[in-house]
Amino acid sequence: MNSAARSSRSCLAVVLAAGEGTRMKSDIPKVLHQVAGRSMLGHALAAVSQAGADRVAVVIGPDRDDVAKEIGAALPDAEIFTQRERLGTGHAVLSARSALARGLDDVIVAFADTPLVTVETFMKLRAPLAEGAAIVALGFEAKDPTGYGRFLMSDDRLLDIREHRDASEEERNITLCNGGLMAIRGDIALTLLDKLDNKNAKGEYYLTDVVAIAQTLCERAVIAVVPEEEIHGVNDRVQLAQAERMMQERLRRAAMMSGVTLVAPETVFFSYDTKLGRDVVVEPHVVFGRGVVAEDHAVIHSFSHLEGAKISKAAGIGPFSRLRPGASIGPKAKVGNFVEIKNADLGPGAKVGHLTYLGDATIGADVNVGAGTITCNYDGFGKYRTVVGEGAFVGSNSSLVAPVTIGKGAFIGSGSVITEDVPEDALALGRGRQVVKEEWAKAFREKSLAAKRK
Ligand code: UD1
Ligand code: CA
Repeated sequence: MNSAARSSRSCLAVVLAAGEGTRMKSDIPKVLHQVAGRSMLGHALAAVSQAGADRVAVVIGPDRDDVAKEIGAALPDAEIFTQRERLGTGHAVLSARSALARGLDDVIVAFADTPLVTVETFMKLRAPLAEGAAIVALGFEAKDPTGYGRFLMSDDRLLDIREHRDASEEERNITLCNGGLMAIRGDIALTLLDKLDNKNAKGEYYLTDVVAIAQTLCERAVIAVVPEEEIHGVNDRVQLAQAERMMQERLRRAAMMSGVTLVAPETVFFSYDTKLGRDVVVEPHVVFGRGVVAEDHAVIHSFSHLEGAKISKAAGIGPFSRLRPGASIGPKAKVGNFVEIKNADLGPGAKVGHLTYLGDATIGADVNVGAGTITCNYDGFGKYRTVVGEGAFVGSNSSLVAPVTIGKGAFIGSGSVITEDVPEDALALGRGRQVVKEEWAKAFREKSLAAKRK
């Protein structure tokens, strides 16, 4: 999919995920908090893999089974290393020693709490290694450099990175700062890392010190520069919300650039994996959970919430529809207001216009499901299926008690409770018979008024 993925150079990515995250004030580890429907760790793992990493090593804190589980789900081939004590970024990278010792061509170091770094940036970071650079550090022009490491440059060569706490007054005036991510030539990575010490203001093994060490070995370090927002790190919930906003802006832009109409983009929320075809129209205030695909010309009307759903060509959803996992809406089908669909297939051209719940159902082509229809799919223990054949007509306010099958072209009278299968082309009525008493109301009124006058 991209040039680095096709590169002949092998690449190890070391993803640092041992963050403390105390400022999140959360029972969930920081790197598992989500941005656009995926954990920040998941974003980092996806980006490094797409940038061509053949092997991925993730460094996590002690006793983090939850983080290990997420890694297993997101990238089963990743190797997990534990950093027992937090002794600095250099120490964290060295926790993956056995992976580093395998000697891949390129090593990239990524942080699991900077979810906005793109695949392109990781590729940009790797590129100079192929031309002989020992280190490429990722930099940005900081609006406020406080707290960041400063780049000490000589022309386009990076001589050293000075951490804020260790910097002189003069060095603190530098605004070209270290974003933290780095690429290191694989043949030299361990040699550089093994020379790190902790003689600095924080008493930590700084990854950044590999730059000065490289100079002593006559090796060259250079920088790649990206906009500040891309290396936005998340330490608290405010920064998490800022990351979400920036990610949503990216996803909206990408959708529009690929031919999707967003009437009010700022009100539409995407998942990282939302897939929308050409000429899809999304009206204001629509939320996409994970795993939604909408094919060409589908229209999603306002206030709909979609998750794990497939919407076929030219289907119409909403306003106020809820599609839950396993909903599959056929071509030109219509799902209207206050309709919830879960684990159900709706055939081509089928219509479910109003106030309906379809769960565990197969609805054939061109079926009309009347307002207020409910599939009774659950008896408190098991879930059962409802099948409605092609061209059937389900009258309003019907309850379809599963398991039940309604044949092709059958007709269900309004207000029916259907508990038994209905043959093709039959009429089924499952309701009390209507009783009409002529003149009853008039007689009732007269009697009642007379009683009141007494
Ligand atoms: C680091 C850089 C700094 C840069 C800044 C950008 C170093 C020494 N400094 O500083 O130059 O401007 O990032 O945000 O690298 N981590 C571990 N184990 C540790 C320490 C850190 O896994 O022992 C992980 C953290 O979880 C985090 C990342 O490494 O994901 C960066 O660590 P952090 O302490 O935030 O580094 P900074 O001091 O911000
Ligand atoms: Ca930081």
